[in-house]
This record gives sequence, C-alpha cells and structure tokens, in this order.
Amino acid sequence: RELTAIEQLPDEIMLQIFGYLNPQELVRCSGVCTQWNRLAMDGSLWKVIRPVQWAKGDWSFMDFMDVEEEEERSIRMEEVVMEMKYDEDADIDESESSDSDSDSDDIRQIQKESKLLVSMVRYLLPKIGKYVMECHLAYSTGLQNGVLYKILKLCPNIEVLDLTQTHISDIGFKSLGKNGCGSKLKKVDLSGCKSVTDSTLIQLSTAMTHASNPESLNENSRGQKVCSKYSKDKATKKSALAAQIDSVDQALKSACDWLEGNLMASRLYEMIENQRMQSPFAHRDPRLIENHQDLTSVYISALNWIKTYYPNSINKNVCSTVSHSNARTSANESLPCDAADCPSRTRPSHNRGNVGYCSDLERTSGSRSCSELTCDSDSLTNTKGVRLLEFLSLSGCYKVTDSGIRSLATDGGLPYLQHLDLSGCSNISSQGLTELVGVCPSLDHDNLFYCDNMEDDPYALSASGCQNLECRSRACCRTGE
Ligand code: FES
Repeated sequence: RELTAIEQLPDEIMLQIFGYLNPQELVRCSGVCTQWNRLAMDGSLWKVIRPVQWAKGDWSFMDFMDVEEEEERSIRMEEVVMEMKYDEDADIDESESSDSDSDSDDIRQIQKESKLLVSMVRYLLPKIGKYVMECHLAYSTGLQNGVLYKILKLCPNIEVLDLTQTHISDIGFKSLGKNGCGSKLKKVDLSGCKSVTDSTLIQLSTAMTHASNPESLNENSRGQKVCSKYSKDKATKKSALAAQIDSVDQALKSACDWLEGNLMASRLYEMIENQRMQSPFAHRDPRLIENHQDLTSVYISALNWIKTYYPNSINKNVCSTVSHSNARTSANESLPCDAADCPSRTRPSHNRGNVGYCSDLERTSGSRSCSELTCDSDSLTNTKGVRLLEFLSLSGCYKVTDSGIRSLATDGGLPYLQHLDLSGCSNISSQGLTELVGVCPSLDHDNLFYCDNMEDDPYALSASGCQNLECRSRACCRTGE
C-alpha cells in the first residue's frame, strides 16, 4: 500500500499539528491507527488536564473557568446534595424529574463529570499520567476520593494540584508519597475542602520530603513497569538476572583465587566498577534503570561473598569495605573514606544521581540474599529532596490544627513557599503559625493570610488578614457575626 501524504510526514511535524488539537480531538485521533495513537498520546501534548472544564464541554487545555459562576454553582450544589442526603427516597433518577430544571441540570452535570473522571482514570491516565504536570479539579462536584487517589497515583510528576471547593477528604490523598507521587508539587490549592484534616498535611509533607525518583518507575525498553513485583515478565527477568549475577560472581571468584591480601578487595572493587561503567546505566538512560539495579545487586552480592570467604582480608583494610557497601541511605555514612588505601576512595558514591535502591539490598548482611531481586515500587529507598512548594492554600479547611502545619515545618520547612493562605483555619494557634512561617524564608507576608481573631497574633503588622470574612462558601470564625 502506498503511503498517503499525511502518513509520510515526520513525527515532529505531526506533533506540531496535533499540538493545535483539543483533548477531545486528540482522543478521537488516537483511535485512527497505531501511529496516530502513539502521537496523540505523546506526553508533550498532555501537560495539563482540566476534567471539570472538559465535562462542561469546554474542551481546551487553557483555563476558561468562570470562578464566580463556579462559586455560585458550588453553593447551589451543596444545597442540592444536602437535600438529597436528607431525603432517603430521592436518588438521581428521581431528581431528574424534579420541578427544578436548574437542579436537574446540576445533577446531570455531576453524572457527566463523574463519568468523564472515571473514564480518564481507566483509559487515558495510564498512558499519559506520568507526563501530567498540572491537574485542575477545582469546583468538581463529581470527584470522589477513590478517583482522586487514582489520579494522584497515575500522575507522579504533578506540580500543580487544584482541588478548590471539592468534597475530597483525607482518604483521597493516601497515594501521595507512593512512587514519588507529590515530590514535585509546587502549587496545592485545597481552598474550601472542608473535610481535609491534619492527616492530609502529614501525607503531603512526607510526599514532598521523600523525593523518590518517579523516573525509575517509568517503563523500561520493553514497555513494562520497572521494579514492579507485578511485572508480567518477572520470571524471565529473574532468570536473566540470575544468569548475569552468576557470570559476574564466577568472574569474581576466579579473580579472588589469585588475588591475595589487602589488594584483593580493591581489585574487586575496580573490577565491579569496570563492569558497571560498561553497562548501559553508565549512559544514564532511565529506561535501563533496571540494569543498574541488577548491577547494584551484583555489587552487594560480591561484597557479601568477600565478607564470607575473605573476612580477614576485609578486616585488614583501613576501613571495612562491607560497611561501605551497606552505607547507602545515610548521607554521612556514604561519604568516601579518606584512608589512602581504602578502595571506596576510588569508587563513586552509591547515592549519586536520583536513583532509588531496593531497601532489601540494605539488609544483605542479614539472612536474605540480594540475588532474590524481588523489589517493588514501594521498596525503593527515598532520597531526601528539597520541598519545592511555592503556593499553599488551606482556606476554609477549618479542621486543620497546629500539628498539621507543624508537619510542614519539619525537614527543612518550605524554602520556596511564597503564598500561604490559612484563612478560616481557626484551630491554628500563633505558636503553630510561627513555627511554619519561621521555616518559609521566601514567604512574602502580603501573601500570608490567617484568622483575624488569632490570640497573640505574631504577624499582626505585616501579614494580610482572613480572606473569608464575606465568603459564603468557606469557613470563617466570623461568619454570622
Ligand atoms: Fe477568623 Fe476568618 S477565620 S476571621
């Protein structure tokens, strides 16, 4: 078959053309053929998702949301939901036949939104989730905790998370911190999320602190998830690894047979390092991270082998090679030894790069053999990272207390935070606030909002006041005054 003119266009040009399409058109194009499916699902086209807007028919990656209108709809919907809650016999179908046309429209909108969100989680995000950087779910009425959980899990590189005025609670955030999810968050807007408590903030804090490398969980060259115990080719992978380890171990054993004394360990290090440098990992191809893990295992395996068969030789060294081999999680411990004849001087740190390690490998001095290589995504050792959060709004989250915001103040605080809105959080005391603000050096006090009635107000002269005084949809201690 002769290729048509459009089929002859290079991928770069096709991607430029696809860049003019909206999400609905892209999804339609993805059903045309394999090539179009690949192009339409290209990560560069799906940096932003706006399911709430899309459910209303505004199929655009740009923001076309009318905030005032959405606020009104949100208040109206809350009333409808409350009515439905109290009317045990009412369900959505019955409500459609209700006298109020606007109520019916709103309910239809909830259904539409829920359906779109579920479809997205099921069919779209597994393909493009890792490329999504902004997720806008503000004023969603159809968003459920389970759906949010999956969205966060499928979008580990997310930087902007807007959940303004949703009914989400702590359960929805449980996937934060898994697979590195949340480690890159820069903007989190939870304004009006009344059900959010300290638990979400603790989860958020942990996720931001432990920046495990989501890249390491990307697909490998065969398009399969790396490091997953659910990997379909686990058996094949294990046997391939076993073969690799066997061959390297054999080589090490032969080398050890004729190497003697203190030199032995350093030669071994050199040898393993040479092996490592010749591997595809030396080129830092994230798709080949699996190979790195294989080689790390080989490395540890070899050291344990030396420990077993040449304990005296290891003891003769200025420092213990085995203790070096196990020093991977602590920054201090992983510093190279200064001793002139210590082999660890010449080898690179285990912790360089953002590569995660299987925590099981750290326990190789125990009974478990590292050659089992049954690591899963949760067992990747996290590398402590700097928190990147620049914007945080908890406006109206009245259940949040000092312990919640204290969790954000731990582990170096929020060095890049520029905007902090705690309006309506009347359970936060001046002590908790001071602790957090004290570790936010970039925070401009013009962009600091909290309750006007706070006792011993520490920033009375510099900070802005509560923003919820006249707001109908968000909590404020002065409502009703
Ligand atoms: Fe106290 Fe708004 S929460 S003034």
